[in-house]
Amino acid sequence: MTAKVISGVEIGKEIRDEIKVGVDKLIDSGCKPGLAVILVGEDPASQTYVKNKEKSSIQAGMKSEQIKLPETISQKELLEHVEKLNNDVSIHGILVQLPLPSHIDEDLVIKSISPDKDVDGFHPQNVGKMIIGQETFLPCTPHGIMEMLERSGIDIAGKHAVVIGRSNIVGKPMGQLLLQKDATVTYCHSKTKNLASFAKQADILIAAIGKAKFVTDEYVKEGAVVIDVGMNRDENGKLCGDVDYDSVKEVASAITPVPGGVGPMTITMLLKNTLLSAEIAQREGKCSLLQE
Ligand code: GUN
Repeated sequence: MTAKVISGVEIGKEIRDEIKVGVDKLIDSGCKPGLAVILVGEDPASQTYVKNKEKSSIQAGMKSEQIKLPETISQKELLEHVEKLNNDVSIHGILVQLPLPSHIDEDLVIKSISPDKDVDGFHPQNVGKMIIGQETFLPCTPHGIMEMLERSGIDIAGKHAVVIGRSNIVGKPMGQLLLQKDATVTYCHSKTKNLASFAKQADILIAAIGKAKFVTDEYVKEGAVVIDVGMNRDENGKLCGDVDYDSVKEVASAITPVPGGVGPMTITMLLKNTLLSAEIAQREGKCSLLQE
C-alpha cells in the first residue's frame, strides 16, 4: 500500500480562500483585521516563521504589524510592548514568537496578552476553555491538524490516537482536541518505555517529537493515518519531519509530507483565529477602520 498524501498546501489554500472572503466582508463593514507579531532576537528559524506569518496575513488582506526587538530587551520593556498592543483597537491578534531568551519569563509574557487577542491560544484562560470544550482560540498547529483530518474525511470517533510529544504548543492540546472528537488518546513522550509498542497500536499517529525521521515503519500499524509535525534538518541539511517518510508511506493509509503538510496549516489557523477575533470585536462595536 502507498499512503494517500494529505496536502497542507492544498487544504490550507482552501481555508485561506474562505478566510479571504471573511476578511473582505469585514472590511466592507468597516473593520480590517490586524495581526501583530513580536519577535525577540535573531533566531533564524523564528525569523523565517515570522516572515511567513507577515506575508500570509497581508495576502489575506489583513493589517500586519511586525515588532522586532533585540535579544537583550528587558522583560519589563517586552511587557510594555504587549500592553500597547492589548490597547490598540486596530490589532485583533497578538503573537509573541517562542522560544524567548532565557532571561524572560515565557509564562508571564503569555499571561500578559489579552485573552481576547491571544490568537495562539496559549493564555491559561483560553487553554482552560479549550479543555472544557468552550469556544475559544484553539492552538494553531493542533487546530490545523484537526482541519486536515476532517477535510480528508478521516473518522476520529472511536479511533485510537497516539500522540508522541507533550509540549504545551502541540502535544498536550493535540490530545485534548482528539479526545473532544471522541478518540481514545494515548500520550507518549521521552520517558515512555517501549514507545514503538504504543505507536504501533495507533489508528491515528501524531509525531511531534523534534527528532529527524524518528518514526520509522517499525512504529506504524498497517493502514494508520500518520501526521508529521516535525521540522528538522536531516544529515544532508535537507528539511525533514519526525517521520521517516519513505518507509512509513508504504504502511500508512494516509500521511502528511514535510514540507507542505502541517506547516502551512499552522499559519492558516493563525489567520482564522485573527479573523474570528476581529469578527467578535466588530460585533461588540470595538472595531473600526477609522481607528487605524
Ligand atoms: N514557536 C513555534 N511554534 C510557535 C507557535 O505556534 N506560536 C508561537 N507564538 N511561537 C511558536
